[in-house]
Amino acid sequence: MTDTDITTIGADWAAWQQSWDRQQEWYMPDREERFRIMLDMVEALVGPAPRVLDLACGTGSITARLFARFPKATSTGVDLDPALLAIAEGTFAGDDRVTFVTADLKDPEWQAKLPYDSYDAVLTATALHWLHSEPLAALYGQVAELVRDGGVFMNADHMIDDSTPRINAAERALRHARMDQAKSGVLDWAEWWQLAAEDPVLAGPTARRFEIYGEHADGDTPPAEWHARVLREKGFGEARPVWCSPSDTLLLALK
Ligand SMILES: C[S@@+](CC[C@H](N)C(=O)[O-])C[C@H]1O[C@@H](n2cnc3c(N)ncnc32)[C@H](O)[C@@H]1O
Repeated sequence: MTDTDITTIGADWAAWQQSWDRQQEWYMPDREERFRIMLDMVEALVGPAPRVLDLACGTGSITARLFARFPKATSTGVDLDPALLAIAEGTFAGDDRVTFVTADLKDPEWQAKLPYDSYDAVLTATALHWLHSEPLAALYGQVAELVRDGGVFMNADHMIDDSTPRINAAERALRHARMDQAKSGVLDWAEWWQLAAEDPVLAGPTARRFEIYGEHADGDTPPAEWHARVLREKGFGEARPVWCSPSDTLLLALK
C-alpha cells in the first residue's frame, strides 16, 4: 500500500487525532493553553491570515488549531514520521490551505523541499527536544532564514534550567505523581504506538517510523535562556518566553 492509498481508504482520522491529543495531554495537561497563547502571539505580531510553517507537525495539531481560529491562514506541515503524517494527510485531505512535506530537520537541505522560501510564522511544539543542541542551533539558523522580517518563530517545549536541580526534581516528582493518578483509561506513548501498529491502515507507516526513530529520538532540553540567546545569534531581533509552566516554556523570537 502506498501513502497515497492510505489517504483515500477512509480510516477514522478524527478518532486518531483525538486519541493523539488525549495521549499528549496526559503528559501536558496545559497543552491547549500553550497553543492558545501561541496563536494569540501570532495574531498580535503577524495578524489573522498568516502563512505558517508547522515545524515537526506530527498529526498537524498546530495547523488544526490555526485553521479553527484563523480560517484564512495557510500552512505547510513538515515532519519525518510516516504514520503521524498519514494521520495529518488523512485529516486535511482536500483542504488546499495546507501542504505536508516529509523531511528530516537534521538534513542541511530540508528547506529546499518547502513550497515557499518565506513564512510569517514558524511554529513548533513538543518536538525540538528530539534534537541535540548542536543540530538544533543549526536548525535555528535555517529557521531565521525562513522567517520574513517582522515575522515570528515560536517553540513550546520542555526547557530545563540545570542550575535549579532541587526545584526540578520536586516539580518532576509532583508532575509524575499526578500523571499516575490520571493514567486510568489513558494511552501513554508506548501504548498509543502499539495501537497504531495494530491498525490495518497505520501498521505499515508505523513500522517505518520505528525503523527511522526507534521508540523516541535522543535529544537535549536546554533552558529557555539558551534558546533565546541562540535565536538572537542566528538573526532574530528579540527573543523571550511568552508563557511558561514549571517545566515547559513557549519561547517567541521576532525577526
Ligand atoms: C511529540 S510529536 C509533536 C507533534 C506536534 N507538534 C504536536 O504538538 O502534536 C514530535 C514530532 O517531532 C517530529 N520530529 C522529531 N525529530 C524530527 C526530525 N529530525 N525531522 C522531522 N521531524 C521530527 C516527530 O516525527 C514528531 O512528529
